Amino acid sequence: MLRKVVLFLAVCAFVFSSGFANFAKAKTVVKVGVDTTFPPFEMEEYGKVVGFDVDMVNAISKVEGFKVEWHTMDFQGLIPALQTGTIQMAVAGMTITPQRAKVVYFSKPYYHSGLSILVKKGSSVKDLADLKGKTVAVKLGTTADIMLSKMKGIKLERFTNINDAYNQLQNSGAQAVVFDNPVNLNYQRTHKNVQVVGKLLTGENYGIAVSKKDPKLLKIVNDGLEKILKNGTYLKIYRKYFGDNDAGLITK
Ligand code: ARG
Repeated sequence: MLRKVVLFLAVCAFVFSSGFANFAKAKTVVKVGVDTTFPPFEMEEYGKVVGFDVDMVNAISKVEGFKVEWHTMDFQGLIPALQTGTIQMAVAGMTITPQRAKVVYFSKPYYHSGLSILVKKGSSVKDLADLKGKTVAVKLGTTADIMLSKMKGIKLERFTNINDAYNQLQNSGAQAVVFDNPVNLNYQRTHKNVQVVGKLLTGENYGIAVSKKDPKLLKIVNDGLEKILKNGTYLKIYRKYFGDNDAGLITK
């Protein structure tokens, strides 16, 4: 009889604890910051956050068993939000830089990128040297802003939203936009009067940023990224957004 009671209690404890564990797991919500003006990595369609970065983080959350709560904000607000704990993670085509790595953790690289110059067709601007004496539009706080701010003889105009920078080029307020090449190419595809010129100005890697308060989350993100790289999910998502252009592809 006593044995039966003990067994019964043990079963109860097991059911309760595993049920509880599942419950706790299902409840793990990670707040992820995103700036949805960076197509095709993140954009908004019919009020929904979509894009390569979004699919990738959703795939990671699936293999690692957490839920994502999307928080849309301006790019330059992402790192402060990670520091104050408003969000725990940010995915925003964010370039891994030593300065940023001092204040946030970065996952392993998930996309190879670089900056390029976008001009109106017929422009005399062909490369970086030609930007001297010109007005160049950039997005505030991005690697393009950081790079061009160090160069002399360029008049920089900084915009919070990259679309305002592109509009400034369109209405001839600026002679060029310097921004991440995949996003410039995306704009070029839909606006036939502009083109990317010259070589890439930089080689950059995108990483998922994680709050320094959360080293465990960094491990989860890296594990998840490794799993989706191995099981083919990453490649499938990559092909969906970038077709057979392998320039950004990460293989391990
Ligand atoms: N890769 C650039 C940087 O890290 C630009 C990223 C902009 N991202 C965005 N979601 N608007 O500075």
